[in-house]
Amino acid sequence: MDFHQIFNDSYQRCQRHPQFFQIFYRNFWQQEERFQKMFENVDMTRQIKMLKLSILMIMLASTSEEAKDNIRRYARRHGPDGIGAQPEDFDIWIDSLLKAVKECDTHYNSDIDKAWRTCFKTGMEIMKQETQLAHTGKITQQH
Ligand code: HEM
Repeated sequence: MDFHQIFNDSYQRCQRHPQFFQIFYRNFWQQEERFQKMFENVDMTRQIKMLKLSILMIMLASTSEEAKDNIRRYARRHGPDGIGAQPEDFDIWIDSLLKAVKECDTHYNSDIDKAWRTCFKTGMEIMKQETQLAHTGKITQQH
């Protein structure tokens, strides 16, 4: 199965839906009130542009060192000295994204779900690991 092709086709269909990115954020914020609070003063037009770029970076992470570096930089922004995301928040993030895909991709099925998760695997792992490391370092420093 060509996961990249399946992902690309699905992402194109999702982007044809005028509310795809808004639906993702609605799903994400519905999971926990603190997520919604984090975005209270954020310019969502700019944020959606950043999300589009992040999706491309995550996709490239399995093959490009430069993309991996960018993801590490994003992760540092999300750590305890920045946004304050917890490593497990990234599981909620990807599940909320896949819920939006289910709503917006007219061809959605379990293979499409698997293709997105496979293509995002390396990038998501970096985000989680770096955030985990930042939290561990912070705890160690405090003792
Ligand atoms: C793989 C998952 C994620 C990626 C790739 C990602 C990527 C990004 C990027 C690129 C920005 C813009 C940074 C900037 O303007 O310098 C951003 C902002 C933000 N992210 Fe994430 N993010 C992810 C997951 C999360 C999670 C799980 C949370 C919350 C728990 C979160 C909360 C935020 C917030 C609140 C901002 C806005 C910061 C601000 O402008 O003040 N993100 N994210």
